[in-house]
Amino acid sequence: MAEGELVSFEKVEDIGVITVDNPPVNAMSPGVPEGIVAALDKGNADLAVKAMVLIGAGRSFIAGADIRQFGKGPPRPAPARRHYDVMDQSPKPVVAAIHGYALGGGLETALACHYRVAVPSAKVGLPEVLIGILPGAGGTQRLPRLIGPKAALDLIVSGRHVPAEEAQKLGIIDEIVPEGGLRDAAIAFAKKIADRRPLPVIRNNNGRLAEGTPELFEGTRKSIARRARNQRAPYACIEAVEAATKLPFDEGCALERKLFDEQVASEEAKALRYAFFAEREVTKLPHIPRDTPLRSTDNPAVVGAGTMGGGIAMSFADYGFDVKITDATQEALDRGMARIRANYETSVKRGSLSQEEMDKRLARIHPVTSIDDIADCDVVIEAAFEQIPVKEVIFTKLDAVMKPGALLYSNTSGIDIDIMADMTKRPQDVAGTHFFAPANVMKLFEVVQGSKSAPDVIATAMALGRKIGKVSGLAGNTDGFLANRSRAPFSTEMVIMLEEGALPEQIDKVMIDFGYPVGPFAVGDISGLDIGYDTRKRRAEQYPNYRTLPIADRVVEAGRLGQKTGKGWYRYEKGDRTPHPDPEVAEIIKKSAAEMGVPQHEFTNDEILKRLLFASVNEACKILDEGKALRASDIDVMWLHGFGFPRYRGGLMYWADTIGVREVYNQIASWHQRYGERWAPSPFLRKLADAGTPLREAKGNWPS
Ligand code: CAA
Repeated sequence: MAEGELVSFEKVEDIGVITVDNPPVNAMSPGVPEGIVAALDKGNADLAVKAMVLIGAGRSFIAGADIRQFGKGPPRPAPARRHYDVMDQSPKPVVAAIHGYALGGGLETALACHYRVAVPSAKVGLPEVLIGILPGAGGTQRLPRLIGPKAALDLIVSGRHVPAEEAQKLGIIDEIVPEGGLRDAAIAFAKKIADRRPLPVIRNNNGRLAEGTPELFEGTRKSIARRARNQRAPYACIEAVEAATKLPFDEGCALERKLFDEQVASEEAKALRYAFFAEREVTKLPHIPRDTPLRSTDNPAVVGAGTMGGGIAMSFADYGFDVKITDATQEALDRGMARIRANYETSVKRGSLSQEEMDKRLARIHPVTSIDDIADCDVVIEAAFEQIPVKEVIFTKLDAVMKPGALLYSNTSGIDIDIMADMTKRPQDVAGTHFFAPANVMKLFEVVQGSKSAPDVIATAMALGRKIGKVSGLAGNTDGFLANRSRAPFSTEMVIMLEEGALPEQIDKVMIDFGYPVGPFAVGDISGLDIGYDTRKRRAEQYPNYRTLPIADRVVEAGRLGQKTGKGWYRYEKGDRTPHPDPEVAEIIKKSAAEMGVPQHEFTNDEILKRLLFASVNEACKILDEGKALRASDIDVMWLHGFGFPRYRGGLMYWADTIGVREVYNQIASWHQRYGERWAPSPFLRKLADAGTPLREAKGNWPS
């Protein structure tokens, strides 16, 4: 292949091999479709060629359209000859040879081929919905014709990646070929089918379209109503597949294209594209060379078998790691193991995990009675009580017994990493790895860099998070680190609004309508209100100017600790987790507000939303200013994966940009006048507002 050539054509005996080479993932950048057309023309014109193979160079077949091109200027007019149509009309068969990923426009290309072969590790899918759009190159019209409307709807509306074996069962893949031998196997397959006629052209295959009943489409709309609220893309996907069952192929494609063009320019799609790239950016650490050799993490251990420790051990087991777990007493360890088992059993009951898989995962978690038994582990995650003397006992012991070079990570959410590092003679091996509850479910993995953490200790932690299916993000060592510190003013403000006359159910409704799965007060009831109570008491002793939250304290003092006591901010019926507004809480609020003499006022939804989120935007700016975050977009990724912030709103900072950095600043400044110090605008925010720099583009003053 000539250098710089995106698509090449060569002959292997009587088979034409077309190779797409557009690193890193063979996206359909400008030039690729044109290159495929030219290669198809060559193959069709050459009398010695009987069939063709389309294959990707490097790590993937084709990962889809080039997302970076979306939203740049008006939609590109369709080329005079689209490669999909050229394939449909090709007199010679074309075989897609799939490894890595065939996603979006990549799978659509493969569907326009006559046959598809794949290696077992390949994955296919139409994930466009995840970036707020729908397949725009015939995917919604060809897939239902190939595998039936029901299965096609499932794939297109969920956007999931389907492993090769399942794709074969569905009828997407014709043959699975051995790993490593794709090119040869695809050529052999092409020789085998070269003379078969008629050619299987999916667009002509209308046999299964009648399976697309009105009930199927209505049922799907109903079933996604909750999770797809405020979004259009999932519904556009359904509309396009429904059209496939009603309209001739070309008309269906035209409707799909129209919906695609509408969606690609939508706010929802812009936010989701931003989230996609922010998630890739968060993995990059400018201060640590990319090729830093990583330490081994094959052999992990968890110290502390409480709720968090157990969830962390499950995270390892869920991703195939054998993990040791220990606690100070046998009873604590037994209790922890029983909790882990019960959690898995719940998943089996719900049908999200098979009994066989549960048994396998459970067998990977090895309880051991003492820290001495984990001495040869590569990595330890400490998840014990959040008290310095407890940490001291553990870190001193770890320092004494762990093999040299072992990684000593702490899951603390509140204790200075440097304090723990200094409990050892190897502070360079210590860092924070902060999980979010429930640890086996929430995706955020906040890596905390202490002042002495070695670069490879940080790089290895980031990679470890990804190995257990998490989204790793780096935070500096500041009180609450990055995620919780930026969230804290939100939690304070929500209670202060109660003092001024709002009710928990009113605030929760605003945030649910905004897109959170659960309102913040209901979340508090799930986590338990006693933790916040203890923290507030501690902070009040520590800081003389600490803003106390008497209403929150009184709720706890009334024995309302959340769901575990049947009442918290809400009341709960036995065996039911539905929150019911409780007049007793309204009474506590009213009485406290009267005693405090706070003037009451009616809240608009807009005020509630902005009071909560702007408080956090301001704090995020302070964090960036102090150099405790690399980028504003990292904060967005953390809010998406740690706090359930609606993805189609991009993240905290991205969302604030939709209001405008100047307006955000002005509002904060005006609340500063009205409410005092806690709303003092961050000078960093002011600078951004003065320069008109979007918040999402801000870089933190991270020390280089
Ligand atoms: N367009 C542009 N860049 C892309 C891309 C795409 N479709 N897919 C991946 N990339 C880039 C990433 O941004 C990243 O770039 P940097 O190294 O500069 O950060 C690089 O390729 C590698 O990507 P990942 O780090 O994500 O690699 P991975 O191995 O973890 O995952 C992947 C690979 C599963 C393909 C993942 O990148 C992915 O999901 N990509 C998006 C796939 C997709 O949504 N396709 C549909 C596009 S829309 C479409 O096709 C519309 C249509 O109908 C025509």
